[in-house]
Amino acid sequence: MQRLQDRVAVITGAAGGIGLATARRFAEEGARLVLADLDEEAGRRAAEEVGGLFVRADVSQEDDVVRMFATAFDEFGSVDIAFNNAGISPADDDSILTTGMDAWRRVQEVNLTSVYLCCKHVIPYMQRQGKGSIINTASFVAVMGSATSQISYTASKGGVLAMTRELGVQFAREGIRVNALCPGPVDTPLLRELFAKDPERAQRRLVHVPLGRFARAEEIAAAVAFLASDDASFVTAAEFLVDGGISGAYVTPL
Ligand SMILES: NC(=O)c1ccc[n+]([C@@H]2O[C@H](COP(=O)([O-])OP(=O)(O)OC[C@H]3O[C@@H](n4cnc5c(N)ncnc54)[C@H](O)[C@@H]3O)[C@@H](O)[C@H]2O)c1
Repeated sequence: MQRLQDRVAVITGAAGGIGLATARRFAEEGARLVLADLDEEAGRRAAEEVGGLFVRADVSQEDDVVRMFATAFDEFGSVDIAFNNAGISPADDDSILTTGMDAWRRVQEVNLTSVYLCCKHVIPYMQRQGKGSIINTASFVAVMGSATSQISYTASKGGVLAMTRELGVQFAREGIRVNALCPGPVDTPLLRELFAKDPERAQRRLVHVPLGRFARAEEIAAAVAFLASDDASFVTAAEFLVDGGISGAYVTPL
């Protein structure tokens, strides 16, 4: 499929995980890519692999975000797709009773303030073009509670979801679609290592997934490509769950 032929896409957190899988998928579909990440080495490697341009950016810093979109526009002449995906979930973000202000603030800055900054600075390009698709990465934890808490992470993703809905509504008649991607747990190297060491911990989570497994990053990327493309031309302000059925489940199959 070449649904993104010659569209210019900026992907944050593109050096690994969901971001990298999406960069690969976007490249297959014909997009011209700007890959942004803090990790310069992995980011450059990723950009080389998909034939894109790497920009080192800390998405919680306004100057970096402004420069990132300006680079995309200067290089390619438009900014058609913004996948605002970079995020962190550090170990010191835990129960509300033990999470300190430092962890709270750090996670809010990287997960929520970054999405505010990216939307704020990409929308003017899209307004001038009269079109654009923004996909902000939230999470299934934005719509469900968890007893294994990461309090700032959950609150940040709730913020991403609400902000996305509002922007989707506000800019709908200007041809700009804004959707929140809510992935379920994804089988990343980190998660695999953690759960290989602790099968009980894995089982505690897997029992809630009707499909009985975690997502592959490519399955999340496929959903992002759909939202980015004209196939999703009537989809905006959506809470787009790609979660293996978790959010719909009460009792799961044995
Ligand atoms: N993996 C999951 O199970 C899962 C589930 C739901 C939602 N998500 C969300 O999906 C997104 C991607 O997650 P992932 O699992 O691919 O993570 P990942 O850790 O594999 O990749 C995240 C990338 O973001 C980059 N990054 C971190 N802070 C940054 C900053 N300040 N500026 C620029 N880049 C920065 C990292 O260097 C990394 O390359 C995140 O927003 C995450 O919260 C992940």
